[in-house]
Amino acid sequence: MVAAKKKIIIVGCGPGAADYITPAAEAAAAKADVLIVSQRLKDLFPGCRAERIDSGTDVDGILDIIAARRNEGRQVVLLAMGDPGIFSLARPVIDRFGRENCEVIPGISSVQIAFARLSLDWQDARIISAFNSNPETTAADLRPAGKIAVLGGRESDPLWTAGLLRKQLGSGWRLLVCEDLTHPNERIREVGADEPTTFPVSTRAIVLIIREELLS
Ligand SMILES: C[S@@+](CC[C@H](N)C(=O)[O-])C[C@H]1O[C@@H](n2cnc3c(N)ncnc32)[C@H](O)[C@@H]1O
Repeated sequence: MVAAKKKIIIVGCGPGAADYITPAAEAAAAKADVLIVSQRLKDLFPGCRAERIDSGTDVDGILDIIAARRNEGRQVVLLAMGDPGIFSLARPVIDRFGRENCEVIPGISSVQIAFARLSLDWQDARIISAFNSNPETTAADLRPAGKIAVLGGRESDPLWTAGLLRKQLGSGWRLLVCEDLTHPNERIREVGADEPTTFPVSTRAIVLIIREELLS
């Protein structure tokens, strides 16, 4: 008999601290036969007895593994950092298996936390990722937003961000580096216009580039 395939559950797990994991995320993780986890999330839900598979960096490879487990009728749960709707494995999973075969449990995004820490709304923010490579974007595209969140953590991110600020966006902006949000070592600091090429950043960092008048 062919096993009935279950929807893949994609769970947003927040930016790190346990108190930002929702009860809905915990309930979804508890249903898992198979948990797909990144290195950063590997210690979440220690009580869950599901098979744990590292999501790794081979996207096609992990999609094939998900397909195989799902074909066996097992409940696959994918854990995503923050919210699955912002730069996560959710998109390739949904593209491959279809929206009708996935259920998304939202999480609290690191982007939400960063803007909340500054008491700024973010419905008009531009969110770009420098996580894997330099974003392909132009100042003309970014400037109207007034609030730009650069997700990153690579060593070369500060260099790219500095170039954007100095050579493209021009003056009138402030740059805030938000590191390890919600973790005990959380740090938010402003970086001066001449400083960015040298400042070190955590591998978990968001750089907010905000128009000066919005922070006055
Ligand atoms: C692959 S993206 C995933 C974003 C995630 N879906 C979200 O909603 O937060 C990973 C990036 O999120 C940001 N990030 C995640 N957790 C963070 C934290 N606790 N503090 C600062 N930035 C964080 C960093 O920019 C990191 O490089």
